[in-house]
Amino acid sequence: MSSPTSTSPAFRTAIVPAAGLGTRFLPTTKAVPKELLPVVDTPGIELVAEEAAEAGAERLVVVTSPDKRSVAEYFQHQPELESTLAERGKDRLLDKVRRGPDLINAEIALQERALGLGHAVGCAEPNLAPTDDAVAVLLPDDLVLPHGVLGRMAETRRRFGGSVLCAFDVPADSVSSYGIFDVDDTDENDVKRVRGMVEKPAPDRAPSRLAAAGRYLLDRAVFDALRRIDPGAGGELQLTDAVALLISEDHPVHVVVHSGVRHDLGNPGGFLKAAVDFALKDSEIGPDLRDWLVERIGRS
Ligand code: UTP
Repeated sequence: MSSPTSTSPAFRTAIVPAAGLGTRFLPTTKAVPKELLPVVDTPGIELVAEEAAEAGAERLVVVTSPDKRSVAEYFQHQPELESTLAERGKDRLLDKVRRGPDLINAEIALQERALGLGHAVGCAEPNLAPTDDAVAVLLPDDLVLPHGVLGRMAETRRRFGGSVLCAFDVPADSVSSYGIFDVDDTDENDVKRVRGMVEKPAPDRAPSRLAAAGRYLLDRAVFDALRRIDPGAGGELQLTDAVALLISEDHPVHVVVHSGVRHDLGNPGGFLKAAVDFALKDSEIGPDLRDWLVERIGRS
């Protein structure tokens, strides 16, 4: 395990795993990757790329599968479309089209088969630079708002070393929907030391109310751990198993408890809530949507 210094950035590379099958969005995901479904007009993957760039990442490694290359193409410039929009004076649209590619240097890592989140993260290892002592991992179907938790996670790694995850305090009766952390307090209110994690516990068995969210700041040691864990059901390698192995070997793992909003874009219900939330904040479509929703709810 490497020791970050107070001057070096905690990470330069962010990994975005986007090679999953997206079964909860079938039949759409037969042809369209769920990471490109628009939250109003912008795909979730651009929203997380923006978050990574704001946190100081210089490089985005998009892990995708051979039939989902459009996810990585999204971050490439489209010279013909851009010049057409420029000729027609469509400056606002031109800004939108350029925003993704201009955010960050994106590159692709291929996961040939969907063998789990841990396996997907492992597929990005050859893309890392020798100086990448740690990497950020952002799940594109998890929106964590407001932005800024990655910065707090970086501070936590600087102070405590090791790896840092992100958690939300959830109501006691919904712990059984999440991976729940078993933690000890530190002298910082929003930072806990992780002893372990329990998948979807019954409320009376839950070690805390801290649910895992899709943001990770992982020491490079995680790639070695990924090679040493056994696959679970369906041959999938779980990222949480690699983190559990590191904890068992006294690698420090902490969570930052983020207070804010989280949207799960990975299922149709969560996706719709995010879309409505974003749309209501949009100055063009928000007011009309609000009126319609009030009228529509009154009718039900
Ligand atoms: P999810 O479990 O939410 O995505 O993984 P999924 O497997 O595509 O969705 P369902 O459960 O079948 O509906 C979280 C993220 O990890 C990626 C997914 O693309 C998603 O962005 N992932 C998951 C991979 O890149 N590879 C995998 O093998 C599994």
